[in-house]
Amino acid sequence: MKRGWFKKKVEELEKLKGYKKPDKYSNILKLDSNENYAVKREFTLDLINQSQENLDVREYPLGGTERLVAAISGYTKIPSEMIGVGNGSDQIIDLILANFASPETKILTSEPTFGFFEERCKLYSIPTIRIPFTNRMTLDLEKFISNAKKAKILYLDSPNNPTGFQFTKNELEQLIKEFDGLIIIDEAYVEFADYSILDLTTKMGNLIVLRTLSKSFGLAGLRIGYFVANKKIVDVFTRVIQYPYPLNTIAIEAGILALQKSNYFLDIANQIKKERSRIIEKLRGMKVFEVFDSNANFVLFVAHGSSQRIYKALIEQGILVKNLGKIGNHEGCLRVTVGSEEMNSKFLLAIRDLLT
Ligand SMILES: Cc1ncc(COP(=O)(O)O)c(C=O)c1O
Repeated sequence: MKRGWFKKKVEELEKLKGYKKPDKYSNILKLDSNENYAVKREFTLDLINQSQENLDVREYPLGGTERLVAAISGYTKIPSEMIGVGNGSDQIIDLILANFASPETKILTSEPTFGFFEERCKLYSIPTIRIPFTNRMTLDLEKFISNAKKAKILYLDSPNNPTGFQFTKNELEQLIKEFDGLIIIDEAYVEFADYSILDLTTKMGNLIVLRTLSKSFGLAGLRIGYFVANKKIVDVFTRVIQYPYPLNTIAIEAGILALQKSNYFLDIANQIKKERSRIIEKLRGMKVFEVFDSNANFVLFVAHGSSQRIYKALIEQGILVKNLGKIGNHEGCLRVTVGSEEMNSKFLLAIRDLLT
C-alpha cells in the first residue's frame, strides 16, 4: 500500500509528547508562564492603538520586518545586518534546528533546559548530551567543557528556564571559546540578568544569541522574537530559511513602538529584580523551602513533599504557579513568576497562610 509510509510517520509522531502548553484557568493570577504583568495592560493597549496609524491589514507587511529590525538595532546598538526576527523566539529555534541540526549533530545542553527546545530536538531526532544541574541548582562548567568536543551544537538558555541560573560572564566566555561548533545562547530573560554576551556576536561567526519581547517587554501575545548573529547567518536565515512574512502587521507596528519606549520596560525589569529579591527573602524566611537564586523573572523553590498540596491550594485561592516535579535530586519543585508588586504580595500572603 502506497500510503503505508505516511501511516507509519503519523504513528511515530503520535508517540511524541510534544510541548505541553500550560493549563488554562480563568480568573487566576497567572504566575506560571514567566509573562510580565508588571507591564501595565493600559500601556500595551496604547501601543496597539497607536500602531493603528500605520496599519493597513489588507496588505502583506512588505518592508515591515526590516523596520522592526531597525528598531531592534536602535535598542541593542547592533547593526541591522546582524539581526533576524521570528514569530516568537520559539519559531527561530524551530527554524534553526530544522535547518542546521540533524540526527548527526549532537547538541550539548543542560538538564533541564527550555522545554520547547527539548521537544523540538525530539521531533527532529536530534540527539542531546545533557549536563544535569547540581544540588545547588548550578551548572558545572568543567562538565560542559569536557563534553564540548562530543557535540556540534551548544544550546544554553542564559539565564536558564526553569532554574534561573546563569554562568558568570567569565565562565560563559570560557565555554564559548572551547566550543568549536554552532553556539546558541538563548537570552530570553536577559533584561533581568546581570550581563549579556551580545557583544561577542561581532567577533564570533558561530554564535547566535536569541532574544524576545515576550518577557521584559511583556508582549508574549504579540509573538516577537529576534536573534543576533554574524551577518552571513542572518542573511541566509532571512533570505532563505525564514518565511517571507513571519510577523503580522500589528505585531510589527506595536513592537516598533515598544522598542522606542524601551526605557519604560527597562525600569520595569529593574522593579522585577527588586521584587524577585523580596520573594526569595520571604520564601527563605518561611524556613520550609529550599529557594534558589535567580537571574530571571521567576523563582524556583523546593516544597519537598508538600508541593502538590501547595500547588493545589494556591489554585483554590486563585493563584497559579508552575508545578515542575523533580529537578535533579530535588523532588517537589515549584516555579513562581515575579509579577506586579500586588500580585507578588498576594502570592506571599497565600503561601504564608498555607503554612500556618
Ligand atoms: C528560555 C526561553 N526561550 C524562549 C522562550 C520563548 O519565547 P517566545 O515567546 O519569544 O517564543 C521562552 C519562553 O518561555 C524561554 O523560557
